[in-house]
Order: sequence, then structure tokens, then C-alpha cells
Amino acid sequence: MTDQPPREQWGTRLGFLMAAIGSAIGLGNIWRFPKVAFDNGGGSFLLPYLIALLTAGIPLLILEYTIGRKYRASPPAALRALYRPTQAIGWWQVAICFVIATYYAVILAWSLRYIGFSFTKAWGDDPNGFFFNDFLKAADEPGTISAFVPGVALPLILIWVVTLVILGLGVRRGIERANKIFIPLLVVFFGVLVIRAVTLDGATTGLNALFQPDWGALTNGSVWVAAYGQIFFSLSIGFGIMITYASYLNRRSDLTGSAMVAGFANSSFEILAGIGVFATLGFMAAQAGVGVDDVVSGGVGLAFVAFPQIISEMWFGQVFGVLFFGSLVIAGLTSLISIVQVIVAAVEDRTGISRTSAVLSVGGATGVVSVLLFSTNGGLYFLDAADHFINQYGIALAGLVLLVMVSWVARKLPMLQRNADATSAVLLGRWWKLCLGVITPVVLGWMMIDSLINEFR
Ligand code: PHE
Repeated sequence: MTDQPPREQWGTRLGFLMAAIGSAIGLGNIWRFPKVAFDNGGGSFLLPYLIALLTAGIPLLILEYTIGRKYRASPPAALRALYRPTQAIGWWQVAICFVIATYYAVILAWSLRYIGFSFTKAWGDDPNGFFFNDFLKAADEPGTISAFVPGVALPLILIWVVTLVILGLGVRRGIERANKIFIPLLVVFFGVLVIRAVTLDGATTGLNALFQPDWGALTNGSVWVAAYGQIFFSLSIGFGIMITYASYLNRRSDLTGSAMVAGFANSSFEILAGIGVFATLGFMAAQAGVGVDDVVSGGVGLAFVAFPQIISEMWFGQVFGVLFFGSLVIAGLTSLISIVQVIVAAVEDRTGISRTSAVLSVGGATGVVSVLLFSTNGGLYFLDAADHFINQYGIALAGLVLLVMVSWVARKLPMLQRNADATSAVLLGRWWKLCLGVITPVVLGWMMIDSLINEFR
């Protein structure tokens, strides 16, 4: 592999940080976090959440950054160089990225379409029926999946074309530049949205509902599982994404500092999203004359049923709709780019083919699978199934096996720690090894057992 061109590099540290933050901030921040926090103790959830960030989120970010920078390769090759048997985990991560990419893009496509729908309030007075029947033409049963839905296919194809063009332009000219444009844009869009949201009638009721602490929840194990789960998904760790992005760093870049910036930026955005979403839900509850508890939702129901209704009820709702769905598209796109890059880089590293060929072949194949599966009227079933599998097993399993191998079997943590410390002003103490070798594996193992129990209950 000596005759290969030198590996690409980020133009600036800021560029890398923007890309890492862009990957982290995604749909999970906007539509997942608010409901998870509400369901798991509200204000008091911030405690386990912060602990999860400090004991698992940031330490794992540092680990992935260090592996990526040291071995300068995508997950399979980097892990192979670290400790040969872990190469399989790298491929497992690539497989997870493939599955996530196929369905994550779909939600972006729906959001893109809903920017247009916001102008005309196309859903009339039945956003629910409109979404499932008119827009998705959702099948009643999996057995009746037959039709192709052009209304979904077209925006989905557009999302894939944009993603692949950006990846095709390369790390610096494509990924870095896109993030440097999209992240500031997202902050503006979302900032205006939140300001509008907190000035709505009923906003305070919504915020009280979100932040009302339930300290008793802290004794409940599943609240802690939820906190760690949210941190893993939200920071995009355990997917090999950060290994991939860090492989384009130069050897002198500060990893520990970057991990802290990325971790706190992501969590700040997430809390901001909680404020925006719950202020808006407070408005919705006030309009309907019901309690906030009655209108709380997350995920698909929040974005495509609750928000459309709110947009209809609000003065200048069209603008609010564009800001909301626009934010989903931008936040999601920067995450999608990072997911697909893992697949592309893994194939590039493995086969030695050029970036363009890798983007066209594997990136293209991922897009085609995504369009074929999810533009049918059964898209919603596939989405649920894929999401369930990924969240319950995919991530936890890869993370757990990797950590046990790296810290206990191959005992690589001291070497990696020295590597990270060499370029950082803040030295990693013993706590780093404790977090990665003990705390996080225990939590991940517990998460897996917890979800297995729920599966068979
Ligand atoms: N972190 C992203 C979010 O919060 C999701 C994501 C998961 C991105 C996996 C990349 C990989 O939505």
C-alpha cells in the first residue's frame, strides 16, 4: 500500500470540530432527547445525563479520536492495526452504518418534503391522516406492501445525490466545507425557532413540564440506561464514525480538548432543542385546553403529526414550519454524511480504489437500497425494525466487545492514553481508564440485558 497517495487531511482544526459536531447533532438531538428527558424524570434527568456524558461520552470520543489519528484508517483497518481480532468489530460498525444510512436518509427526505408542505399547510385539519395515508400511503399490514410512493422517492433521491456529491468532493473540499456552511446555518435557524417558541402562549407551562424534577426517578435503573443510551446515539459513538473522521487529523492535533468541545456543544444543542420543543408543546396544550402530558410525543409523531398541527394553529406558522423542517434537514444531513463516509472510507482503505469510485459504488449502492426499500408503502415498517435492531443491539454490542478487548484482553489503554496525552494540555488521568475499562462496559452490558428482558416480557 506504499504507492497510494497520502491520506487526505482536514484543512483546519475548526473544520474537524465542525464536522465532528455536525455528525453528533442530528435528529436524535431534536426529536429524541426532549421526550427521553421528559419520560425519565424531567429536570432530574440532567444529572444521569451529565454523568453519562462525563463517564462514557467524552472518554469514548477521546478513544475513537486517538485510534483514528494514530492508525489513520477507517474502523476495520484501524482496529486491525490496534489489535488484530478487533477488525471484525470494525466491519460490524460499517454494517451498522450501512443500515442506519438507509433509513436515516428517509427521515431527511420526509422533512425536506414537509418544508414544502408547510407553505400550503397541505395537511389541512388532519395531519395524522395526511402523513400516514396521503403522504406515505402506508400499508395496513406488512403483507400488503406493494406500491412505490413517488412523493417520498423524489426527495429521497435528492438527499442521496447531495450527500454523494459532498462525499465525492472529498474530506476538505466536501465534508469540511459543507459543515462549515451547514452548522452556522443550523444555529441561526434553530436559534430563531427557539426564540419564537419560548415567546408563544403556554411556553412556560411546557418548560415547567419538561424541567419539573422527579428525583425519585434517579433510583430507577432504566433511567440510567436511557441516559447512557441517549449519549451514545447522540454523540455518534460506537459506530466508528469518530475513528473515521479522526483518521484525517494531523498528528499534532489536540484530541482531549476537541472531545470536550464536541461533547459539550452537542449537549448544549440538545438542551436547547428540549427547550424549543417543549415550549412549542406547551403552546399546543394551551390551544387545546389540555395538559402538556396529553400532547407529548417524540420521533415521527412529534415531527410529522404534532408540529404540523402547531404550524396550522400558529400565526405565520409557515415560517415556523420552514425553520423546523429546515433544521431537521440540515442537522440530519451533516450526520448522514458522516455515516456514509465510514462505508466509503472502509472500502477505499480495503481495496485501494479511488474516492470517486468508492463513493459511486458503495455510496451509490447504499442510496439505491435506501430508495428501493423506503419509498414503498412499507417504509414505516422497515424503519421501525431497523431502528429497533440498531438501538437495542447494534451499538451496545459493538461498544462492549470493543472495550473489553481493548482494555482487558489486549491491554492497549495505557499506550493509547500516552498517545492522546502527547498532544494535549489536559492530561488524561486514571479516570479515563476507569471509565473505559469498567464503568462503560458495565453500563453497556446492563443495557443489553435490559433490552433482552424487555424483548421477551
Ligand atoms: N448523532 C446523530 C443524532 O443525534 C445520529 C447518528 C447516529 C449520527 C449514528 C451518526 C451515526 O441524530
